[in-house]
Amino acid sequence: MTSSPDKYCVIGNPIAHSKSPDIHRQFALQVSHAISYEKQLIDLNMFQQDVLALIKEGVCGANVTVPFKQDAWQLAEIKSKTAMVAGAVNTLSFKNGSVYGDNTDGVGLVRDLTINHQQPLLNKRILVLGAGGAVRGVLQDLINEKPLEIVVANRTLSKAQQLADLFNGEVTVEACNFEHIVGEFDLIINGTSASLNNELPPIPKSVISSATVSYDMMYSDQETVFNRWAKDNGAAKCIDGLGMLIEQAAESFWIWRSVRPDTSSIIQQLRSNL
Ligand code: ATR
Repeated sequence: MTSSPDKYCVIGNPIAHSKSPDIHRQFALQVSHAISYEKQLIDLNMFQQDVLALIKEGVCGANVTVPFKQDAWQLAEIKSKTAMVAGAVNTLSFKNGSVYGDNTDGVGLVRDLTINHQQPLLNKRILVLGAGGAVRGVLQDLINEKPLEIVVANRTLSKAQQLADLFNGEVTVEACNFEHIVGEFDLIINGTSASLNNELPPIPKSVISSATVSYDMMYSDQETVFNRWAKDNGAAKCIDGLGMLIEQAAESFWIWRSVRPDTSSIIQQLRSNL
């Protein structure tokens, strides 16, 4: 008798657009693991009940997307250190009767930058735009790479200041408004949701030197407005968030399956399907 495949899913609202099932099914195929991976639309007011129902159905793990990453953090009884500081969980594991929470977004970003694009972060000056959940979720992993400093710039200064207060320590993390950003940066990461509306955070072009790398945590079939702006103003290299999406998924897969899939072929494939 063959046992049924281990069940996983991605939960969010909306969820129809999610590429996670494609990505995880390809990971599973690559490493010959028998799993199922589905999309699950979760009612906006029923997060806890719906997740408990999934656990009852025998689901082993779930990726969590907008708007439930903080609800998942609340639900997780045992959290990794990264998830703890991020205040958000994007990977839930259900095992031994407990709910485990992790956050793989920061690892995804750092692996995409340092491995896929060979951009080491050691001693670099990093400008991070935005101070919402997406940025909070990646700051600790950026700090772990020991950059020279991180400046968090945001439209609402108080939110950037909160993050600077929380993360300043082994690496200097400072906060400012967009109009008060000073100097050039080695790496500029756009973690605002402005790109979703084709908008650009109003930052001075003096932040870009001929060696600057821009990274937009968003991706699309076309160059994002932020990366186009960076390129037009002389940035050396512009990267979008497709690699981060696949790397954060690979880290989740590793947490669940104890094997790390090769991401390069899947990044290429997804890029050509955009
Ligand atoms: P996410 O989970 O994607 O981080 P969020 O927590 O709502 O979403 O945060 C969105 C971020 O994008 C915030 O930093 C927001 O700035 P405010 O804190 O001032 O609201 C930023 N943002 C959204 N639209 C923007 C725009 N048009 N220009 C600049 N920043 C923008």
